[in-house]
Amino acid sequence: MKDGKFITLGIETSCDETAAAITADGRQLLSSVISSQINIHTEFGGVVPEIASRKHLENINITIEKAMKDADVNPEDIDLVGVTYGPGLVGALIIGVAAAKSIAYALDIPLVGVNHMQGHIAAAYLEYPELEPPFMALIVSGGHTNIVNVPSYNTCVKLGETRDDAAGEAFDKIARVIGLGYPGGPKIDKAAKEGNKEAVAFKRVYLEPGSFDFSFSGLKTQALNYLNTEKQAGRKINVCDVAASFQEAVVEVLADKAIAAAVKYNQRRIVMAGGVASNTRLRELMTVKAAENGIEVLRPSPVLCTDNAAMMAVSAYYAYMNGECSDFDLDADPSLGF
Ligand code: KG4
Ligand code: ZN
Repeated sequence: MKDGKFITLGIETSCDETAAAITADGRQLLSSVISSQINIHTEFGGVVPEIASRKHLENINITIEKAMKDADVNPEDIDLVGVTYGPGLVGALIIGVAAAKSIAYALDIPLVGVNHMQGHIAAAYLEYPELEPPFMALIVSGGHTNIVNVPSYNTCVKLGETRDDAAGEAFDKIARVIGLGYPGGPKIDKAAKEGNKEAVAFKRVYLEPGSFDFSFSGLKTQALNYLNTEKQAGRKINVCDVAASFQEAVVEVLADKAIAAAVKYNQRRIVMAGGVASNTRLRELMTVKAAENGIEVLRPSPVLCTDNAAMMAVSAYYAYMNGECSDFDLDADPSLGF
C-alpha cells in the first residue's frame, strides 16, 4: 500500500513489447513503461520469436525498475503482481511469468495470471474512469479478432472470432506485399489517408447471416491476386489506393458486426480494444455507424490499444478483488482462449 492505496504491478511480454506498469486502487495509472522491440524485428519483416524472448530477458528487469521509479513506488509498497500468461509466443510469455512469480515469491504477495485478451478490454477502464460493465467489446489485434459481450468485470462471453486470419495479421501481410514494411497496420493506416478507398473493389466477407465470426483470408488472397495481375500487366500500383481500399474492406465488416452484436444483445456501448483499434478509419467508421443506432463507442487512446502492461494491472486487480489468485505453478499458455 502507498498513501492508503492498493498498488498493483502489471507485467506484459506476450509478443514484442516488454512492458511494466503500476496502478493504484485498480485503475489509477501511476506509471507505464513499454520497451518496444519493433526496430529489431523490422529488419526481418515480422516478429522473430527467438529474438523476442532474448530481448525480453535483457529488458524485463530494467523495465520493471523504471515502472517502479516512475511511479515512486518501492518493492514493499506493491500489493499484487499481475502478468500475462497467454495467449502469445511461448518463449516470450515465459519471461514475464518467471519475473512475476519471482517478485510475488520474494515479496510474499499474491500473483494473478491475466488472459491477454481480457487485458485488452481493461484498457478502457484506464481511459474512462467511470466505465463499468456491461458493454460489448471489439478486440482486434495481430493474433485475434473477437466480438465479446462483457457482462461484468471478470466475465467475458465470446460471440464471434476469426475463422482464419486476424485483422491485424491481414494488415501486416498486405503491407509487406505492397512494400510498406513492418508493422503493417500503422503503415496502412497512414498510407490510406492519401488514397482512394473506392479505387479497388475488395470484397466484404460477412459469412452466414447473423454470424459474428470473421474471415479475412479470402480478402487477403483477392488482394494478392490483384497485385499479381497488375504487376503482370505492367501497371504501376498505387500503394495508397490499395491501402485505403483494403483497409475499408476490413474495417467496414468489423464495424458492421460489432454494431449488429451490440444491437442484438441490447448493449448501448462498444469498447474498442487491441492494436487494430487504434486504426484511424476504424475509429471513425465505428463512431459514425454506432451513432446511427444510438450506440456509444469508447475508444481508448492508441497507446492503450496496443500492447502495454497497464491494462494487465487493471485486469489483475479486478480478478483479485473477485477472489481469483494464481499459484506458483502458473505457466505460460500460448494458445489460451477466452
Ligand atoms: O494488440 P497488439 O499491439 O498486439 C497483439 O496482441 O497482437 O496488436 C498488434 C497489431 C498488429 O497487427 C498491427 O499491425 C496492428 O495491431 N495495428 C494496427 C494499427 N496499429 C497497430 N492496425 C491498423 N491500424 C493501426 N493504426
Ligand atoms: Zn495484444
